[in-house]
Amino acid sequence: MTTPVTREITPFDGQKPGTSGLRKKTGVFMLEGYVEAFVQSIFDAIEGCEGKTFVVGGDGRYFNAEAIQTILRMAAANGAARCIVGQGGLLSTPAASNLIRQREANGGLILSASHNPGGIDEDFGLKYNTANGGPAPESVTGAIFENTKTISRYVTLETPDLDLSALGEVAPGDMVVEVVDPVTDYAALMETLFDFDAIRALLAGGFAVKFDAMHAVTGPYAHEILENRLGAPKGTVLNGTPKVDFGKGHPDPNPIWAKPLVDLVMSEDGPDFAAASDGDGDRNMILGKGVYVTPSDSLAVLAANAHLAPGYARGLAGVARSMPTSRAADRVAEKLGIGCYETPTGWKFFGNLLDAGKATLCGEESAGTGSDHVREKDGLWAVLLWLNVLAVRKMSVADILRDHWQTFGRNYYSRHDYEAVETEKANAVVEGLVAKLDGLPGTGVAGLTVEEADQFAYLDPVDGSVSEKQGLRVMFRGGSRAVMRLSGTGTEGATIRVYLERYVPAEGDLEIETQQALAEIVLAVEELTQLRAITGRAEPDVMT
Ligand code: G1P
Ligand code: ZN
Repeated sequence: MTTPVTREITPFDGQKPGTSGLRKKTGVFMLEGYVEAFVQSIFDAIEGCEGKTFVVGGDGRYFNAEAIQTILRMAAANGAARCIVGQGGLLSTPAASNLIRQREANGGLILSASHNPGGIDEDFGLKYNTANGGPAPESVTGAIFENTKTISRYVTLETPDLDLSALGEVAPGDMVVEVVDPVTDYAALMETLFDFDAIRALLAGGFAVKFDAMHAVTGPYAHEILENRLGAPKGTVLNGTPKVDFGKGHPDPNPIWAKPLVDLVMSEDGPDFAAASDGDGDRNMILGKGVYVTPSDSLAVLAANAHLAPGYARGLAGVARSMPTSRAADRVAEKLGIGCYETPTGWKFFGNLLDAGKATLCGEESAGTGSDHVREKDGLWAVLLWLNVLAVRKMSVADILRDHWQTFGRNYYSRHDYEAVETEKANAVVEGLVAKLDGLPGTGVAGLTVEEADQFAYLDPVDGSVSEKQGLRVMFRGGSRAVMRLSGTGTEGATIRVYLERYVPAEGDLEIETQQALAEIVLAVEELTQLRAITGRAEPDVMT
């Protein structure tokens, strides 16, 4: 039974890893041989498993448990020495990244479709992370995809399912499966970075906090760290028990999907601070009494204040942000005299900068913030850094934001998403703008003057690799900007993302309602792209 068996298989179309691994409808992942074909393609792309150690875990969504059993059998049959698995198959993405690093594993397989809903009719995902703890770079994901096109066999064991509910070691075949508590090592890492005493004192003084785990993987982490270790009252963590379908919600921490939490902080007797994280625990949303902090502003504020936390007291080496993220952080980097990097969308592009010690903090407008403590974005980490800053500065979230804008100016910012657009129409919108880009500089659009327009390409300063066609940028005079790109994580049609940004200097009007502040840029985008006309959509599906 523990002798590896080889099974024949034919390739599946479209096993192409996107912005963050392979994402498909759960039903697709459940097709016979689908997981096997992709996993064998991963193992072949990394030159086999012989003697290797992997971390395996996921966000607990529907089919997580079954897919993990398949992966463990295949890892054993392919000769792996050890798999470190979160109890019950659970590991948040940042905790998995930490374990890969701490245990010096060769890599990890993380099962998640992040903030996408879970369930038999919803989404599933699988990605490979390398030994630095970060998402595999394009060279590796490219090799995996090439393998999926020609895969003809996979190797597995015919052993029964393993019991992953108890801590300790079990052995299918010659491989050891080590079941670990998913929270312990992660919580210990957080204690090394932040002043837990100061945060404990803040909370003991009556500073009220709510954390919405959205029925997803961060529940157990938040209960342990916020309530048990930091002494926040029971009930601080909302929706803290992971469910396979996330309570039928979208585990996406933004003002749309976490509306109850936003309504709470906007109410008279709301908490002083509130936050939420996503399906796999790498995203965050930060709120203060009466205010929503955009992820772009959050990155900038954290960059300006990180030195107040012990883990960053030595200062930052640099800050990196994805191209569509607002340029608020750039102003902080400039003032601090540290490096500032603009990368394509997707956390994998930060890995080299972090490994090379060029950047300490990274962020994306899509509610991702993180640092060099792991190689993924990290939702709870961002919450704890905010709490550490609040404990030291003894100001409200709203006052910290206002103070920041009065120092650096304000980058009004919003993202408009048009979801499930027919692919041909979405391509027509993009191609239409591409064709115009070269002629735009110097022209006027909706009362704005175009300064520069291009397709973003990234030259990685560490390994020299080039990533082209990473989004269209139109820069206007005065520091405003519109960016457009197609989502690489959707599973239905195409999602057009339009990123809008307007800069107002410190002495300007810092209190305009965001959508109103950006209205002119919205008009300019329509004039440039005919997006709404071509897609027939009167307005975006989601505005964050
Ligand atoms: C989205 C976000 C991107 C993030 C990714 C994975 O990708 O925009 O910032 O890294 O999810 O969480 P997209 O769908 O835009 O390709
Ligand atoms: Zn996520």
